Amino acid sequence: MVEIIKADEQLVVELTSFSNRFFDEKWSEASFSSEIKKPNSAVFCAYCDNKIVGVACVENQFGDGYLHNIAVADDYRRQGIARQLMNKCREFLQTNDVEKIFLEVRTSNTNAVNLYKKCGFETVCVRKVFYADPTEDAYSMVLEMK
Ligand SMILES: CC(C)(COP(=O)(O)OP(=O)(O)OC[C@H]1O[C@@H](n2cnc3c(N)ncnc32)[C@H](O)[C@@H]1OP(=O)(O)O)[C@@H](O)C(=O)NCCC(=O)NCCS
Repeated sequence: MVEIIKADEQLVVELTSFSNRFFDEKWSEASFSSEIKKPNSAVFCAYCDNKIVGVACVENQFGDGYLHNIAVADDYRRQGIARQLMNKCREFLQTNDVEKIFLEVRTSNTNAVNLYKKCGFETVCVRKVFYADPTEDAYSMVLEMK
């Protein structure tokens, strides 16, 4: 059974090693530690079989939500875990009076684009050459929460 929990300091080491398998931008333990302590940010972990199997990092940036990243371990995909993580991010932001969540995603990342569309996000624009290594455009997407 998967449990979605808000990360605390005790999870930082595992969280960092899990996340850096998936994220373009590597976060240090210090970055996670500081993110966890910020009142306007939250890191949610999907916990199953005594380990982290998913993570999502979200921030309230001056009244707008921003999803930094989300990932689920290969063996646990297509079970709705990313959607559960997104719901927690959404709840966290809504309790902080946020009405919109923004994100960027590689245009080739069909799985993530599909996830975001399924969660109600719409494409706002294409940001040219947004990513490096490899160079790629990004879709800029937004979710308007009612
Ligand atoms: C994108 C990702 C987070 C999805 O995680 P997941 O737990 O498998 O997603 P869910 O099971 O919650 O799927 C929700 C919806 O997303 C879409 N989706 C997810 N994986 C998909 C795939 N492989 N093919 C097509 N659609 C997919 C579907 O619409 C799915 O709904 P459905 O199962 O009812 O069809 C996961 O594939 C991943 O970790 N990818 C690598 C990291 C990454 O690219 N993160 C995004 C950028 S930071």
